[in-house]
Amino acid sequence: MADQPTSQPPKKLYIETVGCQMNVLDSELVVARLRDDGYELTDDIDQADAILYNTCSVRQHAEDKIYSALGRIKHLKKKKPGLSVGVLGCMAQKDQTQILRRAPHVDVVVGPGQLGRVPELLLKAKAESTPQLAVSLARTAGSRDHVTSSFDSYDADREPAVRPSPFQAYLRVMMGCDKFCTYCIVPSVRGPEQSRPPDSIVAEARLLAMQGVKEITLIGQTVNSYKHREPDGRTTRLSDLLARLHDIEGVVRIKFITNFPNDMTDDLLQAVRDLPKVSRYIHVPAQSGCDMILKRMKRMYTAAFYEDMLARLRETIPGSSVSSDFIVGFCGETEESFDKTVGLLERSRFKNSFIFKYSPRAGTKADGLFADDVAEEVKRRRNQVLLELQTRISLEDNRGFLGRDLEILVEGPSRSTTRKEGWDGPDQMTGRTHCDRIVVFSGPQSLTGLTARVKIENASAVTLFGRVADAQVTGPV
Ligand code: 5AD
Ligand code: SF4
Repeated sequence: MADQPTSQPPKKLYIETVGCQMNVLDSELVVARLRDDGYELTDDIDQADAILYNTCSVRQHAEDKIYSALGRIKHLKKKKPGLSVGVLGCMAQKDQTQILRRAPHVDVVVGPGQLGRVPELLLKAKAESTPQLAVSLARTAGSRDHVTSSFDSYDADREPAVRPSPFQAYLRVMMGCDKFCTYCIVPSVRGPEQSRPPDSIVAEARLLAMQGVKEITLIGQTVNSYKHREPDGRTTRLSDLLARLHDIEGVVRIKFITNFPNDMTDDLLQAVRDLPKVSRYIHVPAQSGCDMILKRMKRMYTAAFYEDMLARLRETIPGSSVSSDFIVGFCGETEESFDKTVGLLERSRFKNSFIFKYSPRAGTKADGLFADDVAEEVKRRRNQVLLELQTRISLEDNRGFLGRDLEILVEGPSRSTTRKEGWDGPDQMTGRTHCDRIVVFSGPQSLTGLTARVKIENASAVTLFGRVADAQVTGPV
């Protein structure tokens, strides 16, 4: 970190992050850069010299929340004219100057491919008293290489202080997406798919391990499509990358999210089975159980293909768990289509599912081609039906763990339990099993980052509850 001139107190940075793991990582990297520029983090928005929002465009609701937050801080800017306000990430890339029109008090608008420039742009906005806009090229603006080069790879600095936990970190292996599912804005705002060179991924993982990180989650929009070709023709796939990362001392658990059903190849499934540090948990979104809808979504598989993939996965990796995403109320989804999704969810026995109501996104294929013709109340009902079904399944499957001893990686104090008013019992800790199930148990905070064996005594749909069964709490999982 750069030395602070003694006469200047550090500037205070308030940053709010919404959306996916990519954004969590991007915020970490932006904070790392701004620390070098003399900023320190604050949780108190009223104290901030800079307020940044790292935004998401996947659904309208996420954007609405940012625009209302921007409205709420208008008065702060009046009170404190030196305050800098920034909109970063996917919404910045999507809405560009529209953000400045709707919120003229914003100083910088920076897309996900330009985040390395945030410190420079904050200074420039102030020096020139003019808002600064930095975005990447649109996908249609030129050749693939030209567009790709406008999305900066931004993975050099790491900033442990803003990680959700000191021993868990995200590691980007891919950027962008080329699948172009018709409902999805991501390929437009995150740019063309790029796989990072394996050597730089391994070097970054080593650095993370040296900083005390034990659990690394590899992230990419379709992480299992990872493929890197060397000039001599050698290719590294995700399975090869997992094997290389597995050798790093200090790393005890490796996860990867999120996966595309068509790219769930046998070599990857075998790597998960054979590499003990790799979590036996796979998030592989189905989106729908109806072929007509999957075709409209351009998912490039059928429901039967998805279910066969799931069967292959479960056969190859015993003790694994799978989770999924679903969109309800996509254009043209009839009751019959929805029933097929219900059937798929019922048969698939996911650990959990993330269920979303379709939200039309300007600029996507679906928005141009199809009418958003499922009424909001129908979307809401279908959402509820899937949620209830998934909750029943999760509860049934979690109850299957009652009485068993499970090895877990301890993540830290359980916030939900410790926050309970009047709670004066022993420390409640939380951790995850090898197949990513959340376990809450009584135990000292010193277990954080270690492994423990816990006997499961109770279960809800999302959490297993237990007590430490074995004091042997060190060593790799
Ligand atoms: N509307 C609703 N949900 C969406 N998702 C992506 N785009 C949309 C949209 N336009 C969901 C998908 C994806 C998850 C990250 O968000 O289920 O897997
Ligand atoms: Fe969006 Fe589909 Fe790419 Fe996932 S695979 S980011 S849903 S376009």
